[in-house]
Amino acid sequence: MIAMVALVGLSVPVLATPFIGADQCKDCHPKQYAQWAKTPHARASSRLSREQQRDPRCTSCHATSAPDGLLGVQCESCHGAGREYWPEPVMRDRKLARAVGLRSGGEPSVCYRCHTVDSALLRPFNVTEALKRIRHDGVIGE
Ligand code: HEC
Ligand code: HEC
Ligand code: HEC
Ligand code: HEC
Repeated sequence: MIAMVALVGLSVPVLATPFIGADQCKDCHPKQYAQWAKTPHARASSRLSREQQRDPRCTSCHATSAPDGLLGVQCESCHGAGREYWPEPVMRDRKLARAVGLRSGGEPSVCYRCHTVDSALLRPFNVTEALKRIRHDGVIGE
């Protein structure tokens, strides 16, 4: 039944959100998921009140897609919405995956969308330092 719903969702774009959620990436990328789950991004809505979790003034940075119930800064906030690129044959074809929305996640512009002058709390956002703290590429063996 769930599979049916997913298929219907794919064939009726109007019903489908472009986001699939971090749990869908987890099966194929368990190591990246485990590292991400320890970063503040995974908990980026947990300190907000219920109202703030739905307030577009906050969810633009503290959620991936609030209308879909995808709270926190999940994979797709940095790597792009995954509806089109998640199937394995697409993911293995990097050119195709990129053409349908996959991003490496490492371009500073990805971070600057949310880490603005206004959102820096204690110290200015240093993208080189910040990237080291969220890294999960090459996590195998670490
Ligand atoms: C069905 C399994 C599967 C799912 C689901 C999946 N991926 Fe992938 N992903 C892969 C494979 C396979 C590769 C290619 C690995 C390789 O060839 O080295 C890959 C590669 C990647 C890369 C690296 C691309 C590059 O050019 O270096 C990123 C980033 C990525 N996936 C993110 C995601 C995100 C985010 C999601 C969820 C929205 C996701 N993947 C869901 C299997 C999957
Ligand atoms: C432009 C993006 C952006 C918007 C909009 C935004 N935030 Fe944030 N918020 C951030 C970033 C980035 C951080 C982390 C900053 C840092 O650590 O320097 C943060 C941190 C926080 C923290 C602190 C978490 C902690 O561990 O101390 C709280 C609480 C918070 N935001 C609440 C809110 C609320 C409530 C709203 C809506 C009224 C909101 N934010 C809107 C980007 C944003
Ligand atoms: C969709 C918005 C969004 C994007 C995109 C984003 N972040 Fe964040 N980031 C946040 C929010 C919100 C927090 C605060 C989470 C909390 O503490 O509740 C945060 C927290 C952090 C922290 C912890 C801050 C601290 O002082 O403890 C680091 C490090 C960080 N982000 C790095 C990055 C890097 C590097 C990128 C780009 C690759 C990036 N972020 C992209 C929203 C975002
Ligand atoms: C805050 C932004 C951010 C979030 C959130 C995020 N990533 Fe990444 N991801 C990155 C960056 C940055 C890289 C390294 C890219 C580079 O060096 O060009 C990366 C690399 C990757 C790679 C390539 C790994 C490799 O060894 O080359 C995969 C796969 C991946 N991420 C999957 C995920 C998955 C799955 C999630 C969610 C569980 C996730 N990412 C969440 C920013 C993010």
